[in-house]
Amino acid sequence: WPYYLAALAFGYLLGSIPFGLIVTRMAGLGDIRKIGSGNIGTTNVLRTGRKSLAAATLLGDGLKGTAAVLVVGQMYGQEMALIAGLGAFLGHLFPVWLKFKGGKGFATYLGVLLGLYWPMFLLAAAIWIAMAFIFRYSSLSALTASLSTPILLYFAFHQFQMAEMFVLLGVLLWAKHHENIGRLLRGRESRIGSSSKPVS
Ligand code: G3P
Repeated sequence: WPYYLAALAFGYLLGSIPFGLIVTRMAGLGDIRKIGSGNIGTTNVLRTGRKSLAAATLLGDGLKGTAAVLVVGQMYGQEMALIAGLGAFLGHLFPVWLKFKGGKGFATYLGVLLGLYWPMFLLAAAIWIAMAFIFRYSSLSALTASLSTPILLYFAFHQFQMAEMFVLLGVLLWAKHHENIGRLLRGRESRIGSSSKPVS
């Protein structure tokens, strides 16, 4: 138990670093939570029009998940790596530093996947890109990729334990996207590349 808790806490601490908030603040753009959707993630940073900051957010929020999984995995093996990945995801979604109001999770989800099982990372990223290319909604792309991931992990790759964890991550990711889902259903979601504030 102490080891599980330590892995969870280590992942959580790494995951709770809000890269979107940090890079936009460093660039002098103020508080990203007052812009666009108010989210601290890549999609909302892109609404500032600064592609390099969005790329830095994607890399930071993604690689913190990868790092948590790889560091713990190297030392304590696969099962502990899963726990660290869960911790990183929870840290991004509910960071103590931001009164537990964090991001929506897809970049960190991908980063954790990269550290755990890169073939599925490539597939999930491909699904996101294909959906984004066709429909131009970041949220819909993340929702689709996170729905497909545990199904493919289970039935195509037979990674049963990992599939279970990604069901949990997916449920949390979908819950965090509840406003986006509402906007998608009402046809009000903002498309990638439009700098406009999503209408609620
Ligand atoms: O995965 C995050 C993205 O799908 C939605 O971000 O800023 O449009 O709510 P946002």
